[in-house]
Amino acid sequence: MGTMRGVNKMGIKDKYQDYFEIGVAVNNRTIRTHSELIKKHFNSLTFENESKFSSLQKSEGKYKFKKLDELVSFGRENKMSMRGHTFTWHQQTPNWVFKNATKEILLERLKSHIEVVGKRYEDDFYCWDVVNEAIDDKGDGILRKSFWTDIIGQDFMEYAFHYAREVLPSTELFYNDYNESLLPKRDKIYKTVKDMKDKGVPINGVGLQCHWNIYQPSMDEIRRAIEVYADLGLRIHITEMDISVYRFEDKQRLSKPTEKMLEQQAKVYGDSFAIFREYKDLIDNVTLWGPADDVTWLDNFPVRKRKNWPLLFDENQEPKEAYYRIMDF
Ligand code: GLA
Repeated sequence: MGTMRGVNKMGIKDKYQDYFEIGVAVNNRTIRTHSELIKKHFNSLTFENESKFSSLQKSEGKYKFKKLDELVSFGRENKMSMRGHTFTWHQQTPNWVFKNATKEILLERLKSHIEVVGKRYEDDFYCWDVVNEAIDDKGDGILRKSFWTDIIGQDFMEYAFHYAREVLPSTELFYNDYNESLLPKRDKIYKTVKDMKDKGVPINGVGLQCHWNIYQPSMDEIRRAIEVYADLGLRIHITEMDISVYRFEDKQRLSKPTEKMLEQQAKVYGDSFAIFREYKDLIDNVTLWGPADDVTWLDNFPVRKRKNWPLLFDENQEPKEAYYRIMDF
């Protein structure tokens, strides 16, 4: 190892061209501040917030496409694939959607949002996360309680997938979630998606968000998750990968990451990308949730205003040890 450091910073997408697309989450700021880095290393885009319900239809019928259109133009110009994210979620959905809604009214609102947004970007987005994070992390219940379950019922996802399929006959439709590799959630996701498939609900893939940290999940858990979901006969996307240097419950605040942390992070990136490569026949896309450590949502989650360093490039957009490790094969 170490032979190519600093010398040949090859694009990740080029190194992985026979494996899967390499994606990145972007927004209207980072396509400017990180433009060169994004173009060099990535060939797929997900929009951090701009294709969510609340960004597009904050008030009923008043769609705002300007920001998303700008991002889509950037993707087109650079010949990148684009993932739509997301139609149905318990967050970032405006209140009006649920206000005074009967089941019929809510379904109508969902359907018309999917029609308008889906159609508009049909030629640009090759897949959509039709439903995001519907499954409960803990307890015996399967779905998390939300306005969607309260008003429509336990089968709200089925409606969303059917509506999406009606509008988008050839787009790949995904279910996307976090804690995807850990029990009990892994089993719950498997069961839910299997039930949908058995009923003939049009779903093509499972999105594994992969918001991990340097301590978990284990490589065995990751491998198991990929195998379990693939067993459903569905495609797999790694949709939002980042590797926090803290445990979820850690309250510690560092001014810089320790060497040990960065080494462990590099190891986790290296080992998990090795697993992804093994399953390249099942995995079509591996997306990082941000271009570099200066712009990451983890600076405010789960602890506000605490620096995290979860990505492949540092705060100066320079490659970290993790980058070299995923490129070393
Ligand atoms: C979830 C969502 C993403 C994003 C992240 C935090 O994982 O799916 O769209 O909001 O949280 O950035």
